Amino acid sequence: MAMKTFTCRVALGIAVLGLCAAGGELWALDNGVARTPPMGWNSWNKFHCDVSEDLIKQAADAMVSSGMKDAGYQFIVIDDCWQVSRDADGNIVPDPKRFPNGMKALADYVHSKGLKFGVYSDAGLRTCQGRPGGRGYEFQDARQYAAWGVDYLKYDWCNHGTQDSAASYSLMRDALEKSGRPIVFSLCEWGSTKPWLWAKDIGNLWRTTGDIEDKWEGRAKFDGLGVVQILDLQDGLQSYAGPGHWNDPDMLEVGNGGMTDTEYRAHFSMWCLLAAPLMAGNDIRSMTPDIRDILTNKEVIAVDQDPAGIEGHRVKRDGGLEVWSKQLADGGRAVALLNRTGAEAQITATWPEIGYPSDIRAKVRDLWEKKDLGEMHGSFSAQVPSHGVVMVTIKP
Ligand code: GLA
Repeated sequence: MAMKTFTCRVALGIAVLGLCAAGGELWALDNGVARTPPMGWNSWNKFHCDVSEDLIKQAADAMVSSGMKDAGYQFIVIDDCWQVSRDADGNIVPDPKRFPNGMKALADYVHSKGLKFGVYSDAGLRTCQGRPGGRGYEFQDARQYAAWGVDYLKYDWCNHGTQDSAASYSLMRDALEKSGRPIVFSLCEWGSTKPWLWAKDIGNLWRTTGDIEDKWEGRAKFDGLGVVQILDLQDGLQSYAGPGHWNDPDMLEVGNGGMTDTEYRAHFSMWCLLAAPLMAGNDIRSMTPDIRDILTNKEVIAVDQDPAGIEGHRVKRDGGLEVWSKQLADGGRAVALLNRTGAEAQITATWPEIGYPSDIRAKVRDLWEKKDLGEMHGSFSAQVPSHGVVMVTIKP
């Protein structure tokens, strides 16, 4: 699985760059996974340290019974706090009370549902919640994860002291490669050292910001990042994303209770427009039908999972009224009209703003109403609710 990456690194050394270019993108991590943005569920946003074998099994069950698996969600990821210590040989030890049957049995259960299994660790000495980190144990941990059947590793950046970020994450990348198991590698250093500039050859996704909070907007600079603050921090990063290497604006808060369904629909739409990883972060065992319908809207998910892997970006900003556009593999555009203001408003996207000549006709389809709106000429306008989106595809 690692052949192209290896070839490319050697090739740089001997300056035969043509070898790398053959067969694909120069420098992208070539572990064969996450060709479209990963989709799954992660325990952190809702459960924090309150994780257990029962919870993870129930989340796997719910991913199937809710229709999320059918909509494309795959990974069940345990975030911080599953680990308590290392044994005398340095092996990482899962909490024996919360995970009485160990991680292999849990991974087997998740796999038996047709899903994939993920865990969390940290590139520093300790995780953000003070559990043992991976520093100094990278190859031992990677071997252990592979033996358990881990398919996804989220790797955090707390307690890293003077470590260099690119070097630390490269070491774990190499360890995962050596483990022989394809494992999605999720870098979580919060954008602090601009991973979009160096991580394409190292990770499959990298966080671009600090932690999301379950709110539309942070009130002050250090009041946590709401959905719109995170959006503002994505604009300009779009050229760094592509198949196998994604910008990660953090996990979803859809369904956690701090926003209205209109805001959650906008949050979900914008993450799909950004080709963001879609990691649900709510209690998927007990969702309302409206929340389930947001998380499983296949037409909106298809925008996220479009095989071209082109991240969308903001093409117009008029006060709190915005137009975002994402080019699709079939030449069409997904367009989100986003209203950040406190009142309903009309928003217009013109064809030149989304990269079309103004005189062509194009078919417009509303992805939330699931309705064809007919052929339009030159522009598309809609009334958009406060803190809401209208999301359409526009295809000549
Ligand atoms: C950091 C990460 C979060 C979560 C916590 C766990 O804050 O950014 O996503 O993993 O650590 O402690």
